Amino acid sequence: MILGEDKVPTPFQPHNPAVVVQKGRGVGQSAIIIGASSGIGAGLAKALAQQGYTLGLVARRDENLRKLAASLPTTTFNRVADIADCRPAMEILGELLEAMGGVELVIITAGIGHENSDLAWRPEAETIAVNVTGFAAMAGVAMRHFMARGSGHLVGISSIAAIKADGSAPAYGASKAFVSRYMQALRHKIAKQQLPIHITDIQAGFIDTAMAKGDGLFWIAPVDVACEQILRAIRRRQKHAYMTQRWRLIAWLCDFCRSGPTTACSKLERAAEEARQTFPPPRKSDRAATGTTRLTSC
Ligand SMILES: NC(=O)c1ccc[n+]([C@@H]2O[C@H](COP(=O)([O-])OP(=O)(O)OC[C@H]3O[C@@H](n4cnc5c(N)ncnc54)[C@H](OP(=O)(O)O)[C@@H]3O)[C@@H](O)[C@H]2O)c1
Repeated sequence: MILGEDKVPTPFQPHNPAVVVQKGRGVGQSAIIIGASSGIGAGLAKALAQQGYTLGLVARRDENLRKLAASLPTTTFNRVADIADCRPAMEILGELLEAMGGVELVIITAGIGHENSDLAWRPEAETIAVNVTGFAAMAGVAMRHFMARGSGHLVGISSIAAIKADGSAPAYGASKAFVSRYMQALRHKIAKQQLPIHITDIQAGFIDTAMAKGDGLFWIAPVDVACEQILRAIRRRQKHAYMTQRWRLIAWLCDFCRSGPTTACSKLERAAEEARQTFPPPRKSDRAATGTTRLTSC
């Protein structure tokens, strides 16, 4: 697998003004997609535009954003930003939020990955700059916006690589573990404040984009199928979803191999105990009447 190595971004223009393509009014919903210039981000933009969303599109490749905006049946605000250069990128996202009058959905799909078996520093540093620092910077701006307006929905595209280390791309898996754990921490923070702010962690398997190249990638999903499932997870305000859903099985196997049968068994015991507390066993007289039996531990 080669992860996004042949990309030649257009030179970054820090204060490129927003290009607004006005195409009538949407149904009032609006979203920003960071990493909209290709792959999953572009697919989500098409699907959300069909649903009438007004869209803010962010990435480095201006030309791709312009072409995408021209093809969408909705009003779009394009911004060129390099999230690895996080200070200007944070300003650009802040300005975009203002220009759009606020949004209720921010999707961070921007990400890179390099195969790097010989541990060259540059690819590792780039991956960390985009997937870790850039992600946290964008998530921070989005969350502060949602906290100020009292509601919102943040979606981050993580990866199955977050749960299974891969020696050929060390920074990539570690960076995606950061993405998933960071969103978990944000969710805890919001739970304390009791605000209606939702956070969805999408852990993707192979999706057929420029990033996933190579022969023999199994369970590779077309972009439109993945986007449809991502939008369903967003609609349901899921905290977490595997993309596509069959990767849940791989995640379960990884968990089982990591924790081993003993831990898996104690997890089952814990689940049984929780079930006992939620549904206390009926009194003796009821039991005689209904024939209900208690759950037993494994
Ligand atoms: N495809 C898969 O199999 C797969 C599997 C698991 C997870 N994912 C995750 O899915 C997300 C989307 O990837 P994809 O498959 O759709 O690949 P992609 O087509 O290469 O899309 C990556 C997007 O991220 C943007 N991006 C990259 N670096 C950026 C930067 N420094 N600043 C701003 N935007 C940047 C790119 O735009 P510019 O180049 O124009 O800046 C592009 O829009 C990534 O986070 C990836 O890790 C993909």
